[in-house]
Amino acid sequence: MKFLKLNKKRKLIIVYIIATKLLFVAIQFLPVNKPKIIVTNPNDLIASTNIPKNVALQIKTSCYDCHSNETKLPWYSSIAPTNWFIYRHINKGREELNFSNWNALSKEEKEEKLDDISTVVSGDEMPLKKYSIVHPKSKLSKKEKEDIINWTYKLLGSLYK
Ligand code: HEC
Repeated sequence: MKFLKLNKKRKLIIVYIIATKLLFVAIQFLPVNKPKIIVTNPNDLIASTNIPKNVALQIKTSCYDCHSNETKLPWYSSIAPTNWFIYRHINKGREELNFSNWNALSKEEKEEKLDDISTVVSGDEMPLKKYSIVHPKSKLSKKEKEDIINWTYKLLGSLYK
């Protein structure tokens, strides 16, 4: 057999390549918690509040993939091991804040979320850095951050009117 005639180093390389390929195939079958996509959400923030158009668009571009039911999954998101990280971000992000359920929140919850939004936006904590590298449009300029923060104050002020 040809394989037997190869020197030890070459044999090792071939075994390594086959093993990593098999491993890659094998991990595709591990169970994953794929986030459900729902496009019609009557309680959605943008559908149910009077949010300025530019702020709505920015939040949709920068936050909705992880903080709404309308996640746009990129093609590579269904391939392990990438999907493990992406799905975890989305599931955790939705758990913390889901703009699709906005209007179902109590006033107190809305107040708390708006407070959190202005904190994470002014502190450059969101959108997540790793996400912005792959989605450059999600990065917020100084002006965009100010617009979002001002909107949170405005909505906060109107909650108890
Ligand atoms: C790539 C996914 C992703 C994107 C995009 C993203 N987030 Fe998050 N967000 C998360 C995850 C995951 C968490 C959970 C906390 C953590 O792991 O850091 C979170 C947490 C939060 C929290 C709660 C933080 C706290 O300390 O209570 C707020 C508020 C938030 N995000 C707002 C936003 C806003 C506003 C945007 C858009 C400007 C945004 N996020 C974009 C994934 C994301």
